[in-house]
Amino acid sequence: MKPQPTTFPYPFIGRIIISQEEIEERVSQLGELITRDYQDSQRLLLLGLLRGSVMFITDLMRKIQRPLTMDFMSVSSYSGSESSGFVRIDSDHKTNIHGWDVILIDDIVDSGYTIHTIRKLLLDRRPRSLRVCAFLDKVDKHKVDIAIDYCGFTIPDYFVVGYGLDIDEKGRNLPYIASVDLEKYQA
Ligand code: IMP
Ligand code: MG
Repeated sequence: MKPQPTTFPYPFIGRIIISQEEIEERVSQLGELITRDYQDSQRLLLLGLLRGSVMFITDLMRKIQRPLTMDFMSVSSYSGSESSGFVRIDSDHKTNIHGWDVILIDDIVDSGYTIHTIRKLLLDRRPRSLRVCAFLDKVDKHKVDIAIDYCGFTIPDYFVVGYGLDIDEKGRNLPYIASVDLEKYQA
């Protein structure tokens, strides 16, 4: 095991929940699963939700041994640490996904509203197939019934940052997943 960092670049970090090493191992496994499941696919698109999925998608794509392309959508549903339930599309993907095998990639599923809403919208655009891949899943917090086909880790109801995830845009650069100590957090 690599030594864990003892000092953090943000004052509001609680503790490390998932280490860099654990992330690397799990992302490799997900890449292998996707490689295996898409052997017959000639048009595979990784469609990431900005900005939280960026670190995950760039690591994951290196572990997929298939031809693929990448695109992004930008959506927002959150302010601070609370889900609003209302999902707004700030910028749409560029690829015409009709006939494509699409994997929708997000950083974390909380209430599930984001994935639920975007999934419905993408299905209307008639991809050949559509699956969902989330790096983290707060299973106990789902408010809608959604299926996650590829999940990195399930976590309890902590607010977390790192590996692309933020609190008010802070914390994305941490290479591990850490809990936020909300008492030490100042917006
Ligand atoms: P949902 O629509 O409630 O499932 O929320 C999903 C979105 O909320 C994710 O894409 C994240 O951007 C954000 N989110 C939810 N929980 C966390 C968290 O613990 N840390 C950082 N962002 C979070
Ligand atoms: Mg997000």
